[in-house]
Formats: sequence, C-alpha cells, structure tokens
Amino acid sequence: MDYEVLNGLLRPKAIAIIGASAQEGKIGYTVVKNLIDSKYEGAIYPINPKTPEILGLKTYKSVLDVPGEVDAAVIVVPARFALRVTEECGKKGVKGLIVIASGFGEVGKHELESQMVETAHRYGMRVLGPNIVGILSNSDNNNASFAPFLPFPGKAALVSQSGALLIAMDASSYTRGVGFDKMISIGNMSDVNFGDMVDWLDNDENTFCISLYIEGLQDGRNFIRAAKEAGKPIIALKSGVSAHGAAAAASHTGSLAGSGKIYEAAFEQAGVVRAANLNNLFDRTLALSLQPPMHGENVMVITNGGGVGVLATDAAERYGIPLRFAPDDVQTELKKYMPEFGSAKNPADLTGMAGREWYEPSVKYAFAHPWVNGLVVLYCETAMTDPMDIAQGIKAAVDSTGIKDKPITVSFVGGEKCDAAMRWLVENGIPAYNAPDLAVNAMGALHEYAESRAQATTAYERYTDVDEAAARKIIEKVRAENRNMTEVESKDIFRAYGLPVADTRLATSEDEAVALAETIGYPVVLKIASPDILHKSDAGGVKVNIKTAEEVRAAYQEILKNAKAYKADADIHGIVIQEMAPWGTEVILGSVNDPTFGPSVMFGLGGIFVEILKDVTFRVAPISPAQAYKMLSEIKGAPILAGARGEAPRDREKLAEVLSRYAQMVVDLGDVIAESDANPVIVYEEGAGVNIVDARIILK
Ligand code: ACO
Repeated sequence: MDYEVLNGLLRPKAIAIIGASAQEGKIGYTVVKNLIDSKYEGAIYPINPKTPEILGLKTYKSVLDVPGEVDAAVIVVPARFALRVTEECGKKGVKGLIVIASGFGEVGKHELESQMVETAHRYGMRVLGPNIVGILSNSDNNNASFAPFLPFPGKAALVSQSGALLIAMDASSYTRGVGFDKMISIGNMSDVNFGDMVDWLDNDENTFCISLYIEGLQDGRNFIRAAKEAGKPIIALKSGVSAHGAAAAASHTGSLAGSGKIYEAAFEQAGVVRAANLNNLFDRTLALSLQPPMHGENVMVITNGGGVGVLATDAAERYGIPLRFAPDDVQTELKKYMPEFGSAKNPADLTGMAGREWYEPSVKYAFAHPWVNGLVVLYCETAMTDPMDIAQGIKAAVDSTGIKDKPITVSFVGGEKCDAAMRWLVENGIPAYNAPDLAVNAMGALHEYAESRAQATTAYERYTDVDEAAARKIIEKVRAENRNMTEVESKDIFRAYGLPVADTRLATSEDEAVALAETIGYPVVLKIASPDILHKSDAGGVKVNIKTAEEVRAAYQEILKNAKAYKADADIHGIVIQEMAPWGTEVILGSVNDPTFGPSVMFGLGGIFVEILKDVTFRVAPISPAQAYKMLSEIKGAPILAGARGEAPRDREKLAEVLSRYAQMVVDLGDVIAESDANPVIVYEEGAGVNIVDARIILK
C-alpha cells in the first residue's frame, strides 16, 4: 500500500470536483454543496467547462487549469468521459480519484474500468470506486459524497461495498447513537480494496474500530494479511453467502465450501469479528469502538431484575461466554449491597430496590475484581430510581477503579429516561443497549475479538521434511499423459508430505496381486486402479477383508469384470492391493482452491456426518497444528473424537499434525491441485496415530 498516495485520496487538502454543476439535484452540485456544508477547510475546485461559478466558488474548465495542487479528484462526469479526465488528473499530479460515476464493470464495462485504473496507475494515482457514494470524514470536515451529511461523530470507520447501505447507515448513525469518524464507499473496488482500506485505517489516528460491509472480497489472502497485521478491531458483515464455488465443484469439499464457510474461516483466521446482520453491525461496532477486548472467560452480570438477568444468562451461553458462579469473596462483598432476598451468585441480583447507592459500590467492586474479565450491568426502570442517576453511578464506579483494559457493557430497559441515560453512557464511552441480550452480545464481540486475535497472531512454521520435488514429478507425469491421477499416485504425493497413508500397491496380474497381499499381510482390500473410475465403490470396484490367496484371485477377477461393465473403455492400470486398516473413528479431510481465498482445507467426521449433517469446518491454508487442533473441536461431532460414551479419546494431536501437513501440501501445490480429499482417514486411540485409507487428488 502506498500510504502517502492513499492519504492524499482519503484525507485530501485540496479537492477538485470534475463534473461539478450549478444545477440543483445533480450529483455534481450536491458534492460541492456537501463540501461547503461540512465546512471542509481545504481548497475546493469545481471543474466545469461551461459554468463560471458554482455555489460562489470559481470553476475551472479543466483540472489542468487549477492554480494550486490537487490531492483528490471527485469524478462526477458520465463514465464515457472517465479516461479523458483521468488522463488530465494524472498530468495535474492528482494523488487519487474518487469515482462516484457508475457505468463501469457493474454493467459489464470491465474494459473501461481497467483502462481507467491503468491510466491512473501510470501516473501513480489510486482509484476509489467507481460506482460509489464518496468519502465522509468528521475529523476532516469532509463530505466529498452525495450522502446527506457527515455521520454521527464517533470512533469507528465504516467501509462499505454498497453505496446505498452507506447512505442508510450514515443517517441511522444518529438515531442509533453509534458514532463514526469516517465512512468510505468502495463500490466496484477497481483498485482500492478492503485490504488497502484496512491497512490505511489501521494507521488512521481517528479510527478505533474498522467496520466493514462486504459482499465479496477480491484478494482474500491480502485481506487476511491486512486484518492480521491490524492493531485495531475489525468487524465484518458479509452478505451474499451463496454457493458461488459449488457449481463447478467435483467433490464433497467443493460443494460444502460454497456455503460461505470459507469466509467464516478466513474471518476467524484473520481475527475479524462477525456481525450477524445490520443491527448487529451497529451494536458490535459501538462496543468495539468504545471498549477494550475481553481477555479471559469470566463475565459477571449485575442486575436489578431477575427476568433480564435470566435473559442475559441465556444470551451469554449463545454468544460464547457462558456465566459461571462468582467466587465466594465476590459473593460475600456483593451481598452487602442487596437485601436478604437478593442473589450474589451470577447474575448478581441487587433486586428492584437497588438505587445508585447499591449499584455504584457493587459495580466498583466487581469491575476491579481480578476474577471478572468483563462486566455487564443491567437495569430495569423503576419508580423509585432515576436512570440517569444509575448511569452516572456506573460511570463513576468504573472511573474510580482506573481500569482501562477490561470491558463493560450496559443495558437499560425502560422508557425515554432510560434512552437518555444510555445516550449519556455512550457519550461517556460505555456502550449501552435497550435489551439485555444485546449488551451480552456486545460483550461476546469483545471476547470474540480477544480470542480470534490470539489465534490470528499465532506463529506458523512450515514442515521441512517434505519432498515437493517428488510430488511435482508425479504431477508432471500425469499431466503429460493427460489423464486423472490414480489412487497410488495420489497417495505417493501425500506420502511425500509425510502423511500416513495406508500401504497401497499396484498389481497388474492375479499372481502379482497374491504376492503383494502376502507381503502386506492379510486381511487386505482390493480396489480398481483406473483414472477413468473415480467413484470406485459405485463401479463395484472395491472388495474388503480379503483373507486368503484364493479370495484375492476371486476378488481380482470380479473387480475387473465389474469395472468393464461399468465403463467398457476405461483405462485400467490394474488392481490396488492395500492393507486393511483396523477399525477406528472415520474422518474426512478435503481441499478446494477457493476463488477468493485460494487453497483451503476442510475437516469433518466421515460417513453421514459429512454427507447428511454437513458437520464440517474450514480453514484457509496453511494452518499450524494448533489451528488444526482447534478445528477438531469446532464440529458438532467433536465429543466423538474427545472420547464419548466410554470410548478412549482419539489421537487428536496426530490428526492435527496430519491436517497441518495436508494444508501445507495443498498450498505448496496450489498452482496445480484443484481439489483433493482423504476419505476415509481412520483415527486411532491417543498415541496410536492416524491412517489415510483413501486419497484423491484432482488436478486443475
Ligand atoms: N469536465 C468537467 N465537467 C464536465 C465534463 C468534463 N470533461 N464533461 C461534462 N461535464 C459537466 C457537464 O456539463 C455537467 O455540468 P452542467 O450541469 O453544468 O451541464 C456535469 O459535468 C455533469 O455531467 P452530466 O452529463 O450532466 O451528467 P449527470 O450529472 O447527469 O450524471 C453522473 C453524471 C452522476 C456521474 C452519472 O453519470 C452517474 O454515474 N450517476 C450514478 C452515480 C451513482 O449512483 N453512483 C453509485 C453510488 S452507490 C448507490 O447506488 C447509492
């Protein structure tokens, strides 16, 4: 990212509006008016070939006629003039273009769009848009957009792929009381994309939380990198989670990957907090922009009502921060601030009698207590208490502790007085919500942020005992022969990456099959080896539990017969003889080359778990064994691996290593592997390892 150039684009000291108009109702008029109304302090240069003056400002026929320097040019002429004005801006030394004009890639005019970017780049300019609303910045008094006004001031920055949504959020930032310093519309992302924006906003002194509305990322890996490097919370609302990659997919993994699960995984890996919907984006942005992350697991709830306390308790479980009973010393102290019939456990119910004199000391004590990692304070409006008084008590209590690295969220449930008190709290840096579950959800976001940051910043180390050259040699041979890869070849590649594959050998005659079976040791499995038969069982091409030489011969003949019946012209390499893996827990590993994120891996339990329940989890590769280990706990069937119903726990440590090595394989060979899977993989008891029974690689 060229920081200085982006600075010129996003915090310009002088702006030209190319296509400025004196005609009210035109976008070219609105942008000039907005700049004036927002009290923009830099130079404003309206560019219009016909009109001498717009809104009292002298106009210029071309940007080239402007006497001073121009940092940013807002393009509000129709798309057909884009190349010409871009060229002129380049000659003028403009740093960046804010291309509000539509009529580019979004209507199929991709060539025009890329020509505009190429021209801009030739002059070292960056392009924001096209097809955008513009940029808004409170700290710069800059409304270079056709949104109605600057947003409700605050500490967050919104970057939105949808212009209309940005305008809507701009207006509703006031009604919701969620403050933004900046709102940036990025539209078609012809040049400046989400990764650039995260990099730039991370360096922006007025941004404390980066809020994103994403329809689709272009360079997923660059986004992950930027987000991982960012020192500020990032929250994303992702829409359009559809099966974009699924249609072309040839495997289980492919069809499961299309469901947006890779986005979910990528956000988690990048330390990006998710928003479930638009309301949630506002709510979580408020918390992340005002409060520090919640490190640790202990949330304490203080309330004056049992009902809201129970609602908060339910929500805590839903949002990954289940409540635990407070330790004895906390309970003993809090009991001082409630009547006999109160409860100090957690939630601590001060009861409906509680006023500021009980709220304030209990909040102060709980917030300062080392056991408490995050505090949620609830209040229901009563006739004996004043919401503002309670709010001020909470704020005074928090301030008196001097603690700045622990979060607090609040919910006041009641009428207008509660709303006013919550506004006051927000103005004073404490996020407040009108329902208990929202305050808990906000705390959940602060916890999610801490957790995913920790994961995002764990180190990754490559395995060095791998033989990429050997793997590539096999791939080259298969490509030269223009055919599918066989099971034995796939397994050889897996083996080159140190993956434990079942002993599998190719026999080209009945006698050889018997000899190999005897070397491997009975019982064995016989499988058809043909690049034309990928679904071997469907073709009657698999015989298991073969125990004698006679059975080997019979199975050999039968498989050949079945294969020929299934596909008469199949290219049959022979029959594979494989050790019969003892029973264990079946799992599946898979990989896809995602259009947005590149090589990504999937993990799930085998059989019905993957096929019917779709109980799988993804990561963008590569992943460390620690990240792989976390994947094992993410699926619903995780207890099966942990040792459910009296079964011994499975060898999760080895499985995590296998998953991590597998991810390295699909990244290293990402230029040639389209999809792959290992299915089934048998996992044995702790210490007894993992056996990859079947493996398949599909080349691009
Ligand atoms: N240099 C400077 N000014 C020029 C030039 C030039 N080379 N050529 C023309 N102009 C002037 C025009 O004379 C006109 O000024 P005038 O009013 O004095 O005559 C002005 O530039 C604008 O040109 P028009 O042809 O009148 O174009 P109009 O204003 O109707 O539309 C616009 C231009 C707004 C860029 C339009 O083409 C467009 O793309 N609209 C969509 C914008 C949009 O919605 N963006 C996406 C936002 S996201 C969302 O959906 C909310």
